Amino acid sequence: MPDDRNDPLEKLAAAHRSLEENLNDLARSARSLGDPRGRAAALEGLSCVVAYFERSMSRHQEDEERSLFPRLAVLESVAPTLDRLRQEHKAQRRALDELRAAIERDGGADAAEALPPLIDGLRAAYQRYVACEEQEVFPAARRFLQASAMHSIMNEMETRRGRGGQGNPAKGISGRPSRPGGMRRGP
Ligand SMILES: [Fe+2]
Repeated sequence: MPDDRNDPLEKLAAAHRSLEENLNDLARSARSLGDPRGRAAALEGLSCVVAYFERSMSRHQEDEERSLFPRLAVLESVAPTLDRLRQEHKAQRRALDELRAAIERDGGADAAEALPPLIDGLRAAYQRYVACEEQEVFPAARRFLQASAMHSIMNEMETRRGRGGQGNPAKGISGRPSRPGGMRRGP
């Protein structure tokens, strides 16, 4: 039976699930902006989730762009998709910058109208991106990469998180969302 705890592709997919949960949190917080009594708390919640999302998304993108994609670049069938995914990573960062700016700029009544479309756009783009990676790129990696390459990717991901890079499942990368203080953690 495969051990998912040391499988970098499982970890990357778990990071997608966690980021999706955070996008759902963002959408929920944005909906509560319509209630004037809850607006201040909703804006604070939005700021927290956006800050977390920026950190975790940045690390996830680094995992893919520095550890996974370079090892797949020799596959002619996948290389164009990898280029497109790098562009989508950039687009996600721009969308997040736009969202953060809108939260800071539209802290008043306009926020209830301005933010939901931005979040919906980010969610839709993210869904397309995740589908591409999980249906095309990860299966290609599963077919092509040797166990030693998978192990190296896992070690790099762990090292990126200051965990020593030994792939120790006891200290493994948690893809499971939790909510200390109302914030999710994960990828
Ligand atoms: Fe990804």
